[in-house]
Amino acid sequence: MKGSCKFCWLVSMALIVALGAMSYFFVIKGSVIKGDDGRTAILMTSGERNHVLGEMRGFLEAVQAITEGIANDDMALVATSANAVGMALVRNESPALLAKMPIEFKKLGFGAHTAFDDMAQEATDIGDGKMLTAQLGDLLGRCTGCHAGYRFDIESN
Ligand code: HEC
Repeated sequence: MKGSCKFCWLVSMALIVALGAMSYFFVIKGSVIKGDDGRTAILMTSGERNHVLGEMRGFLEAVQAITEGIANDDMALVATSANAVGMALVRNESPALLAKMPIEFKKLGFGAHTAFDDMAQEATDIGDGKMLTAQLGDLLGRCTGCHAGYRFDIESN
């Protein structure tokens, strides 16, 4: 059977190139253009944009409740509010939408969700208001950092 599969190499090479291209487009690059305000605009359908903006408002609602929880030393409120917007949310995200987000954006987003999980853990374990405020300050830096670099535009098709 020696040398009986000349085409196998070609097919394998073609598959590797196709896989590489697919991971570049669907995992790394995303669907982006340069926005007219200098930020990177991620292109998505209006339904997807409404969905992500709804999640963003959920982030802000969580921040509101967490702040209230810290002020009133209500660690149960901090933990439940932070948990509601943790990494568990990402697991239900549509693969089509994730594919439109560039890898840097996904890293920033996952980082924010994970930071909420960490806050929930901290509130449950130790429940130190000062430490939680420091964590919240750090987390808010993730929000502003991402907003400075990205926006959502509606794709034309
Ligand atoms: C991975 C990037 C990223 C992170 C992290 C992020 N955001 Fe956003 N957020 C965006 C983008 C992009 C928009 C849309 C901005 C635009 O199109 O001008 C947005 C919009 C919003 C909006 C407007 C929602 C609406 O209905 O118009 C709110 C509120 C918001 N974000 C809150 C937050 C808060 C609070 C955090 C942190 C806990 C956060 N975001 C973290 C990317 C991010």
